[in-house]
Amino acid sequence: MARSALVTGATGQDGSYLMELLLKKGYEVYGLVRRLSVPNIGNIQHILEDVTLLDGDLIDQSSLNAAVRESHPDEIYSLAAQSFVATSFVQPVLTGEITGLGVVRLLEALRAYAPEARFYQASSSEMFGRVDREPQDETTPFHPRSPYGVAKVYAYWACVNYREAHGLSISNGILFNHESARRGLEFLTRKVSQGVARIHAGLAKTISLGNLDAKRDWGYAPEFVDLMWRILQHKEPDDFVGATGEAHSVREFVAEAFRLVGISNWEKHVTIDEKNIRPSEVYNLRGDASKAKRVLGWEPKTRFKDLVRIMVEAEIGSLEDTRPAKGVPSG
Ligand code: NAP
Ligand code: GDD
Repeated sequence: MARSALVTGATGQDGSYLMELLLKKGYEVYGLVRRLSVPNIGNIQHILEDVTLLDGDLIDQSSLNAAVRESHPDEIYSLAAQSFVATSFVQPVLTGEITGLGVVRLLEALRAYAPEARFYQASSSEMFGRVDREPQDETTPFHPRSPYGVAKVYAYWACVNYREAHGLSISNGILFNHESARRGLEFLTRKVSQGVARIHAGLAKTISLGNLDAKRDWGYAPEFVDLMWRILQHKEPDDFVGATGEAHSVREFVAEAFRLVGISNWEKHVTIDEKNIRPSEVYNLRGDASKAKRVLGWEPKTRFKDLVRIMVEAEIGSLEDTRPAKGVPSG
């Protein structure tokens, strides 16, 4: 019989890649989606016929109970979150409700209705925050710098506690930034790759950014969902860092994206706006994923320049797709 998996955050970047991966592996795939006035299914349009979507919201316990009961999951992937750090400063209570307490609601559903299932929690390198060592690994202390980071630390420890207190099979993936053309438009890499493509096409002149000196360990999302799956195949529940091991600044990302379209004087096209600067910043993240390599055989292949190229090319391609064909009147 096919194994069954329940994925929360199904419409997001990671949820969409993970559901594709699980389908390829022969799983029966259930995705939790919340009701929106206009459905947000762009990332999963192509697999809609192959998965079962279940209505639910991390704020609503009964909908999570029902989703777990209905999907009879062998594996649960807890990916849903208010995941944008900047928003967490203006919506800290909502972020705590969804990104923190929402995970505990899902753990309660696990405990009551699928205690044999393996559970993956999407923990984050944001938890390391103000780091006191480099690179960061599973033993690095947490010092979150945003309401989002604080909520993720709460969810992380809730997962550890449910594992220890109730003997449930719960694992954390502490993943560093991973990106793709399916990233939300407000995240740095997508904002830059889309902005550069629009400038290249003559549709815009500038991109408005914030702190150019922050450094991130940016990887490619499809490789990181493979790590999530591997973590749940490991017999013993455990916590693993996922990262490329390389850090680059926002400035480097911007310069490389502009270089790819032949623009060297990129400073002319970037403005710095106070509204993009966070009240407290995470300045430097670089991960050490040697445990994931040693125990799970996982190693990311896509390096920084490949990632920037993939994202810029995807934006240029999608702009070309939306342009009217020659001779066809627009409007
Ligand atoms: P994402 O694209 O922002 O997706 C978030 C998902 O959560 C969306 O499907 C969203 O649904 C759903 N969601 C939000 N609020 C919800 C609620 N109240 N009830 C049910 N669903 C809700 O995030 P991602 O990049 O795929 O990341 C997946 C997970 O990994 C998140 O937990 C994120 O915090 C974590 N993480 C991400 C990274 C990264 O670099 N991408 C790194 C470390 C950890 P809608 O479509 O309806 O908004
Ligand atoms: N979004 C954004 N917009 N970020 C900017 C901008 C801007 O205009 N200008 C500079 N930055 C800087 C941010 O201050 C941050 O230091 C860096 O670019 C990356 O920002 P984001 O892409 O928004 O991602 P993040 O690192 O804050 O958070 C992402 O990674 C976490 C893992 O470390 C999210 O995916 C989180 O959900 C995830 O947990």
